[in-house]
Amino acid sequence: MITLREPAYAKVNLTLDVLAKRPDGYHDLESIFQAVSLKDEILLTLGTGESWALICSDPQIPCDRRNLVWKAAELFCQETGFDPKGLHMEIRKQIPSQAGLGGGSADAAAVLRALNPCLEKPFSLEALAQMGAKVGSDVPFCVIGGTAFAEGRGERLRPLGTEGKLHYVLVKPSLSFSTPELFRKIDNSSIPKRPNHEAMTKALENGDPVQVGEQLCNVFEYAVLEDYPEIGRIKELLLSHGAVGAQMTGSGSVVFAIFQTEGQAQQAHCAIASEYPDSYYCTTV
Ligand code: C5P
Repeated sequence: MITLREPAYAKVNLTLDVLAKRPDGYHDLESIFQAVSLKDEILLTLGTGESWALICSDPQIPCDRRNLVWKAAELFCQETGFDPKGLHMEIRKQIPSQAGLGGGSADAAAVLRALNPCLEKPFSLEALAQMGAKVGSDVPFCVIGGTAFAEGRGERLRPLGTEGKLHYVLVKPSLSFSTPELFRKIDNSSIPKRPNHEAMTKALENGDPVQVGEQLCNVFEYAVLEDYPEIGRIKELLLSHGAVGAQMTGSGSVVFAIFQTEGQAQQAHCAIASEYPDSYYCTTV
């Protein structure tokens, strides 16, 4: 038996634009993703000689074929003919679910990355990312990590250069939103402001948190701010503690904020922790 360990980093969407609905029911997106240091850990034990099993430190998460971790392992074995001769999968969860942080996708991507070196001829990261697209729209980015501009469903990726690390505070309210529902709402609402991905790319290259903060834009906010004022309140709270920008990530409900220094971020995190215990300090990976 052999046990493989792989970190699964959360992501935030620094920009997110939803374009047209496609004939396959999905929407074309444009988004700048960044991996952050908040992470789950995946442990895979190969050669157990028993039927496949999955356990998770969070009892709320389904531990069967519905889990993206299981789907990713099954897809990898189907596509490559690799037989682990019994597989025990464990998820040590830190990333909150229903958050817009891509936790499930990060876990699935970690499985693909962990199994890949078991092959005689491992896939390139790009080929592995394309395999991941069959598991979920955010999986390709999670395979590659870093910072990237994503198009299509999220499977067309262009890595971006960044200077330095950003300091984040993430806040998870007890609300959660349905992703398909937010896509439907976006189709029917007018979008007053769309992201400027080019300006965000430059801000990241310059490593200037103030410019990054100014360029934050996620069109999904227009589908939630009116009905869920708590999202706007959390943004205001984070800005009042010195953040240079605050925004919802993905289809929510986590709101993240960017700070100029680790000290400011840690201070803000401490100040809001009593009201929002499900909050985290993290950085660009
Ligand atoms: O691919 P994933 O399972 O993450 O997507 C969940 C749902 O979100 C899809 O079934 C679809 O309704 C919606 N979606 C979309 N366009 C995308 C990604 C997701 O419409 N690019």
